[in-house]
Amino acid sequence: MKFFLDTADLGEIAEAASWGVLAGVTTNPSLYARIGGKLSDFETHVRRICDLVDGPVSAESTATGRADIVAQGRALAALSPQVVVKVPVTVEGLAATRALADEGVRVNMTLCFSVPQAILAARSGARYVSPFVGRFDDIAEDGASQLGDIVEALGNYDLSSCGVAHETIEVIAASVRNAGHVTQAALLGADIATVPFKVLKACVAHPLTDRGLDAFDKDWKKVTNA
Ligand code: E4P
Repeated sequence: MKFFLDTADLGEIAEAASWGVLAGVTTNPSLYARIGGKLSDFETHVRRICDLVDGPVSAESTATGRADIVAQGRALAALSPQVVVKVPVTVEGLAATRALADEGVRVNMTLCFSVPQAILAARSGARYVSPFVGRFDDIAEDGASQLGDIVEALGNYDLSSCGVAHETIEVIAASVRNAGHVTQAALLGADIATVPFKVLKACVAHPLTDRGLDAFDKDWKKVTNA
């Protein structure tokens, strides 16, 4: 499973990229608003993210009609070959994704909450589909089980004929709230987990690692002071 960072914060992206484990970035309008982003800076900001990470960068379309989504998608894709256009799973989104995929533009279908939505995303030519885990948990439902169903259902078929350059759709576990969700995503066979920076940090940490380091440090001092 690959790790993407789910943020628009350049500092977080630069830091995570320096760890050598970052395979991509996903953003959305809320994440850009959270860092105080302005519309006039958006394209420059997306380019800056692309400069920081060696991998796909999802930038979301905010249009609702298919023609507008396609136009916005083309403009976003023109910013960098790394850009993947994020499009919600709606009727208009599916039609726009088909059009963009036919032009060779990679799409990440977002706001996916069910198996039928995921299969439709694949059939529309999306390169990625993003089932949201945490938002199910927010309403006391089982997000991991939905994710598992989606991974299994997509795995039942050869969908390589649907997408851009016959690349098979990859499942991005999104709306990840904690390291437990990352474990579940990996065990369920998600291709990618896109995680907030605080979750990435939590994934590195373990109290037994800290305790072990303390013990090694104390014992090494005995060696060096002997
Ligand atoms: C996915 O790409 C979304 O940007 C994101 O994971 C949504 O997460 P949230 O439910 O924490 O807003």
